[in-house]
Amino acid sequence: MSIPRKIIIDTDPGQDDAVAILLALASPEELDVLGVTAVAGNVPLPLTQKNTRIVCELAGKPDTKVFSGCDAPIARKLVTAEHVHGKTGLDGPVMPDPTMPLQDQHAVDFIIDTLRAEPAGTVTLCPLGPLTNIATAFERAPDIIGKVQEIVLMGGAYFQVGNITPAAEFNIYVDPEAAKIVFASGVPIVVMPLDVTHKALTNRVRVEAFRKFGNEAGRMVAEWTDFFERFDKEKYGSEGAPLHDPCVIAYLLKPDLFSGRHVNVEIETTSELTLGMTVADWWGVTDRTPNAMFMGDVDAEGFFALLNERIARL
Ligand code: BDR
Ligand code: CA
Repeated sequence: MSIPRKIIIDTDPGQDDAVAILLALASPEELDVLGVTAVAGNVPLPLTQKNTRIVCELAGKPDTKVFSGCDAPIARKLVTAEHVHGKTGLDGPVMPDPTMPLQDQHAVDFIIDTLRAEPAGTVTLCPLGPLTNIATAFERAPDIIGKVQEIVLMGGAYFQVGNITPAAEFNIYVDPEAAKIVFASGVPIVVMPLDVTHKALTNRVRVEAFRKFGNEAGRMVAEWTDFFERFDKEKYGSEGAPLHDPCVIAYLLKPDLFSGRHVNVEIETTSELTLGMTVADWWGVTDRTPNAMFMGDVDAEGFFALLNERIARL
């Protein structure tokens, strides 16, 4: 058996973040979750760190180390997404307050210390929210940049363009300066943009499958998706909701589910109109150096089969 891959999940739960965390914690043979770092995003930091602990407890993993990180983007005021995720960020089922502790250390210090302590090229970062914690760690400790194995993140869009503005995806829009630092870092990056996540859509059959497992985690996933489906159905006229963030973890477990192109991606930080846009050179029309594997497609059936199999284990 191979050694599980060491990962740090950086997150702003968010129902889809929650499903991603459950998927990772349900996969200990493949993934060793060194810690989960919370960042402000979908809702403010006090809620994202609390929600992270709620989800770890739901997974039956109260020993998971959870850290609280940056409460605002590097250079801007925080923009949140209660209109999608509800007031708590995890609206839907009523969840008990967590009893597991929050670690004393700041998330950024944890990321820095972990990358310094572990052998180079053995820790993968999995950002599921704005990139504030990761970029702050890179700025504060440039020596860790070369030690990161890979960054697999949810953010951006090319063909789907934007979901928070006509030109930008939420995670990148909230902290474009952070995104710029990360995309310029030279670390190998895999991007799960809206182009992919809008193909990882729930539907009635897929949601009912979760409910039928008979475990608490399955029921919660069904109720969370019930809640945030209403927003996407209204907005896109789609059958269900995109499970954005679980695509990141699914990629670590089964990379063959995804396909894309290794291209250059630049982040717009100055234009008011297109702030946070991920300018991906999908068609190779510039000579800019490719810096990211930008995914374009997912085998949705395979993705949900994996998710079902893992959530049923919890
Ligand atoms: C991203 O923004 C958040 O609302 C989701 O959790 C996901 O990470 C999608 O644009
Ligand atoms: Ca998220």
